[in-house]
Amino acid sequence: MSSTVVVAMDGPSGSGKSSTARGVASKLGLRFLDTGAQFRAMTQWMLAHGVDPSSPEAIAKHAGEPVIVSGTDPLAPTITVDGSDVSVAIRSAEVTANVSAVAAVPEVRTRILGLQREIIGEGGIVVEGRDIGSVVWPQAAVKVYLTADPEARAVRRTAENGGGSVEATQADLLRRDAIDSGRKAAPLTMPEGAIHIDTTPYTLDEVIDQVVALVLQTEPS
Ligand code: DC
Repeated sequence: MSSTVVVAMDGPSGSGKSSTARGVASKLGLRFLDTGAQFRAMTQWMLAHGVDPSSPEAIAKHAGEPVIVSGTDPLAPTITVDGSDVSVAIRSAEVTANVSAVAAVPEVRTRILGLQREIIGEGGIVVEGRDIGSVVWPQAAVKVYLTADPEARAVRRTAENGGGSVEATQADLLRRDAIDSGRKAAPLTMPEGAIHIDTTPYTLDEVIDQVVALVLQTEPS
């Protein structure tokens, strides 16, 4: 496998992006970057420092402060803020409830865009998010846009969370979709040149195999 390929994988919450991106990266010996985790880490820092997540001005003022470091091994991705492991804290209900508002602040996006481009660097990476093929790395050799029916997404996300109400999870996914797609700065959108895969009828392994085939077609080993 070419070590310089960049695979951009975008789509809404619960479309299967994270698991697919990790599976593709580990099958092809590539690195992996979960950009949602970076926005979650920024949100976790704001909450931990008493910054009001509903105030874009307050968020913008502090956006340059947290030191966010992402580890890119697809088998053991890590994320630290100011040197502390926040991989569990960033999945809390409080972070999930506030992350879309924080991610909509342009100063946050500019700061995280810099981190993302530094990590992507020479390539050899599968990057998943909302704006990777459209804004972060539009020159990516392979762009994939994953979607799934809202109900399928909610069932998957509820299982990932260890149980709970599928209806409440679905309502939260749709609320975040609306913010992520409607914001001015780098909204969730299908990038130009992306291949759309609706993952609803497929198992995770089937989707991983489809994306691996696409990468190998584009970048034969
Ligand atoms: O993929 P996730 O649910 O962990 O993402 C958390 C939030 O981060 C999501 O609601 C929108 C935001 N996000 C973004 O704005 N741009 C990205 N590239 C990735 C995530």
